Amino acid sequence: MISSIESERIFSYALDLICIVGFDGYFKTLNPSWEKTLGWSINELKSKPWLEFVHPDDRDRCIARRKKIIENGELLQFENRYICKDGTYKWLNWSCHPFPDEDVIYGIARDVTEEKIYREEAFNNEKLKSLGTLAAGIAHDFNNLLASLYGNIEMAQKNSDIKEKVEHYLGNALESFSSARNLTSQLLTFSEGGAPVKKIGNIAESVINCCKFSLSGSNVACEYDIDPDLKPVSYDPEQISQVVQNLIVNSKQAMGDNGIIGVSVHNIKNGKGDFVRITIADSGEGISEKNLENIFDPFFTTKEGGSGLGLPTSHSIIKKHNGYIEVESQEKVGTVFHIYLPVSENVPDNDKVENGQKSETQGSGTILVMDDQDAVRDIMKDMLESLGYQVIEAYDGEHAITIVEEMKLKGSLLRCAIFDLTVPGGMGGKDAVRKVKEIMPDMPVFASSGYSSDPVMSEPEKHGFSASLKKPFKLKDVHHIIEKFAG
Ligand SMILES: Nc1ncnc2c1ncn2[C@@H]1O[C@H](COP(=O)(O)OP(=O)(O)OP(=O)(O)O)[C@@H](O)[C@H]1O
Ligand SMILES: [Mg+2]
Repeated sequence: MISSIESERIFSYALDLICIVGFDGYFKTLNPSWEKTLGWSINELKSKPWLEFVHPDDRDRCIARRKKIIENGELLQFENRYICKDGTYKWLNWSCHPFPDEDVIYGIARDVTEEKIYREEAFNNEKLKSLGTLAAGIAHDFNNLLASLYGNIEMAQKNSDIKEKVEHYLGNALESFSSARNLTSQLLTFSEGGAPVKKIGNIAESVINCCKFSLSGSNVACEYDIDPDLKPVSYDPEQISQVVQNLIVNSKQAMGDNGIIGVSVHNIKNGKGDFVRITIADSGEGISEKNLENIFDPFFTTKEGGSGLGLPTSHSIIKKHNGYIEVESQEKVGTVFHIYLPVSENVPDNDKVENGQKSETQGSGTILVMDDQDAVRDIMKDMLESLGYQVIEAYDGEHAITIVEEMKLKGSLLRCAIFDLTVPGGMGGKDAVRKVKEIMPDMPVFASSGYSSDPVMSEPEKHGFSASLKKPFKLKDVHHIIEKFAG
């Protein structure tokens, strides 16, 4: 047995903070370590309820824990912050034991402030490292795309008198531009938000096109097995293409750029509901059981130069489509990914202008374009005029409202308006559309933005817009949307 003199000495010399706290909320006994750690005298600590020394943000948690200790007995490893006399805070890690017969709790706390700071620094360093890898990867991809854009546009300029060459170089430039657009939207969907901008329809064509695109210039081919009576799903074509592209590229890499990838798209009914299932099967190196647990973690990669974002991005996209992903894999045999997308009950949107002739028809009428960036307004004006429309420009929401009021006074009609959502330092599209609709209630207004994660972009109708246009857009996108909603 420990004598009272021994326990007295342990109490006096312990580095840990030892205390006895009454159920009344006041300290009864404290060892000298309290004074050394927090700077308050023992009397000062005893003069107020202990809760007043606890950081205000930790108080509710402390009260709940105290209740639990009294009800359930001992508590280990609980952390909270105590204020020091100099106004700073120290993190204490507690173990406590109640003695209900005596209405007291015995507590021993350890100062873990330094350890906490160290842990946080290590965590931030890890995050910075990941961010660095990501930034380097993106910079690399973007520089390549910019090099191609530069080169091709310069070559087109040099050969401006030879029509075929101009077409060739500009065609290449447009392709690089598409890839750049894919890259930014990959990043955006990975960021918070990234709500899908969905359409309803048969997904097979998008899947096949995307597989072909992802394998261009490679030795790998796809073998397709597509259900001829595929049910419609509600999907964001760009986002789903990104998922398919990520999976196809992974398969291609796993097979060392050689072999055949099986791609099938089928209707499936299972315990979870009605789905269209896209299956991508390769005969590559496979994934070990251990790695299989991590492949959806951001930045998990086994590849030199891989960013480890392909699968987590895909996972987050499919989740936002209310679907799910399954994977089966065997080392040295191959890997199969299944993507399940819920079948849509609604009628498919018929893409009238999607391909061909109709986009050749001339537009007419006047369109109001509001964007704070001159370059964006200029190119939109040229694009719309090339389609046959007339264009009036506004540099912010208030300017747009003034123009609409003037048009109304003159009795002139606007066919529609395209409003940028974000105008730094000025009125953006979201506020402007409300006012403009009061003046010309029947005029369709389209939201345009480079932030596809903005909720207005996925549900434009809820905010007074007729539809949304994701930046950067193509001539076809603009024409399509005007014909469809302002026809
Ligand atoms: N089809 C596959 N066959 C074998 N391994 C795969 C396959 N798909 C994914 N993996 C494993 O999962 C890891 C994570 O894949 P993910 O696509 O997220 O990132 P990554 O391909 O490494 O990099 P990136 O961001 O360039 O796509 C890969 O590094 C690889 O180890
Ligand atoms: Mg990948």
